[in-house]
Amino acid sequence: MSTKTNDPSGTPPTTRAFDLLAGMFAAQVIAAMATAQVFDTIGHGSKTPDEVATACGLDRNTLARALRFLEVVGVVNKDKDAYALTDVGKCFLKDVPGSLHGSVSFISAPPWRDSWNNFSHCLRTGEPAFDHVFKQPFFTYLDRNQEYGKPFNQYMTRMTTMVAPLVADAYDFGQFKTVCDVGGGQGILLKAVLEKHGGCKGILFDMENALKEQVLGGLVDRTELVTGSFFEKVPRADCLLLKTVIHDWNDANSIRILTNCGEALHKGGKVLLVEQVIERPFTMMGLFYDLHMQVMLGGAERTEEEFAQLLAAAGLKLNRIIPTPSPMKLIEAVAAG
Ligand SMILES: C[S@@+](CC[C@H](N)C(=O)[O-])C[C@H]1O[C@@H](n2cnc3c(N)ncnc32)[C@H](O)[C@@H]1O
Repeated sequence: MSTKTNDPSGTPPTTRAFDLLAGMFAAQVIAAMATAQVFDTIGHGSKTPDEVATACGLDRNTLARALRFLEVVGVVNKDKDAYALTDVGKCFLKDVPGSLHGSVSFISAPPWRDSWNNFSHCLRTGEPAFDHVFKQPFFTYLDRNQEYGKPFNQYMTRMTTMVAPLVADAYDFGQFKTVCDVGGGQGILLKAVLEKHGGCKGILFDMENALKEQVLGGLVDRTELVTGSFFEKVPRADCLLLKTVIHDWNDANSIRILTNCGEALHKGGKVLLVEQVIERPFTMMGLFYDLHMQVMLGGAERTEEEFAQLLAAAGLKLNRIIPTPSPMKLIEAVAAG
């Protein structure tokens, strides 16, 4: 077997190995700078370290060295005395499409940071690190600690905003009278589906705190808001839509949710999962989220075969997989036999 890395740049192995370790420190610098509003202060223009230090109330010397460090990792460029954000750096601005500002805040917040610090617990036990550190499951914690729960729901809405129209366009939801978004968060995906398909009625099903902040706008008139747990029961509908819900859970819990979905499906209805499907060539995003789900919830990203097995164990049959112009795919399932 080859011992060569997949790095095509020809960088010496020790340098590459050091760069991998430095990734953790780069993430910490980026998180601290984003939290201190450095990136939003530079914005789409350019600023000197003095100007940024004054505007953000920071130590000028440390800030200047941190900006110099961010130049070497490709986040900023320097021209004369002023720094500007590169296209990569602009992804950390708050108000740009596809902003990673929310992800940055989570990196440095205790629920995420302290869980990842305990990845070795996952390695030893196969259990989520979150429960080990916080002595309760992730979603229970978010529900009880709204200072994290609220930004999490808002973050999910922002992330789903980008793919919602792509999912609504990729599939003929017009065949259904009722579409239930199971674990639908604040309802941004259901909104896109109802906007495109005037004949559909919606059901938004989630925990109370997510529904309190629903973003359906005028479409709330065509939507029933239902609070509950998908481990107990799921509302009846022609289409049960689950976006990035199954990846949160281990196989046993996923089978429980999918079994409840199968029981709630009207005759001839469909279960639609919106998930990444792990396949070669692997992507950093797919394999990062796979481990992230393990750390936070004991969940996983899955291959097509793994989805087919899960669905079969829940009395469903994987019918087909429909791509979207995004990392997300639609996995269509029907009642088996
Ligand atoms: C990863 S988020 C996905 C949200 C939304 N589908 C999206 O993609 O934007 C998982 C969702 O599952 C919800 N959830 C977690 N446990 C639940 C339960 N037992 N019953 C119903 N919803 C639950 C959370 O509140 C959250 O909104």
